[in-house]
Amino acid sequence: MSMRLPFFKKNKQSQPENDSELVNVPEHVAIIMDGNGRWAQKKGLPRVAGHKEGMDVVRNTVKAAVNYDIKILTLFAFSTENWKRPKSEIEFIMRLPKEFLHIYLPELMENNVRIETIGDFNTLPDYTKEAIQYAKEQTKDNNGLLLNFALNYGSRYEIMRAIKLIMSDADHAKISIDEIDENLFSEYLYTNGLSDPDLLIRTSGEMRLSNFLLWQLAYTEFWFTDVLWPDFSEDIFKQALLDYQHRKRRYGGI
Ligand code: FPP
Repeated sequence: MSMRLPFFKKNKQSQPENDSELVNVPEHVAIIMDGNGRWAQKKGLPRVAGHKEGMDVVRNTVKAAVNYDIKILTLFAFSTENWKRPKSEIEFIMRLPKEFLHIYLPELMENNVRIETIGDFNTLPDYTKEAIQYAKEQTKDNNGLLLNFALNYGSRYEIMRAIKLIMSDADHAKISIDEIDENLFSEYLYTNGLSDPDLLIRTSGEMRLSNFLLWQLAYTEFWFTDVLWPDFSEDIFKQALLDYQHRKRRYGGI
């Protein structure tokens, strides 16, 4: 039986000593968790070993986000384009939410974490859907960190879907064309009700968005690191937050 560290408790004393340096913590952090495959290949392991390691890094990152009092953590776990991967890799990734929740749901509950997803939920395999649906129901009344998995998510699809829903509501006279503005449009996205990310982190040295939150990232601060996702750590997360706190966000103003 593998030994697992006990999960975290939200406890300021458990933070690294110099956390007092952290001010202006972003409310919403989104992460493109990239580099699992390369991490595994560098070690002579099958690609899926990187995904498995990446799952444990998700746990540590959630722990850090709770400690830093981040309100929303959106993690890009599977894109609409990832279906192009070999079947065995897709199946492995799709089984990770069940494994993750089997191990960590009790502790997520203790730490008041709420679980949600964005993306096309209905076309996920049943075993993925059932595990996540159960976790959503169990955590629905928690009001601490919102842990938001982007799963089977693609931003262009999300935007097209919003347009279709808006046109349908206009056809049925539920809304009029004059009412369509940025706020109303946002309500038709998967992220309805969530603030836009303040900070986007992408690991593995790639500097692109890969169809992630194209609308929502309009004024987000970007932070890139060469570190591969399985090597991401609380220290690196903290570095991103320290850099973020010096950014001047002007939203087009002066
Ligand atoms: C990108 O790395 C990573 C993914 C497509 C999968 C991400 C999944 C996890 C980190 C685990 C998720 C855990 C839960 C609990 C859902 P890549 O495979 O594209 O890496 P590469 O660019 O090096 O090939």
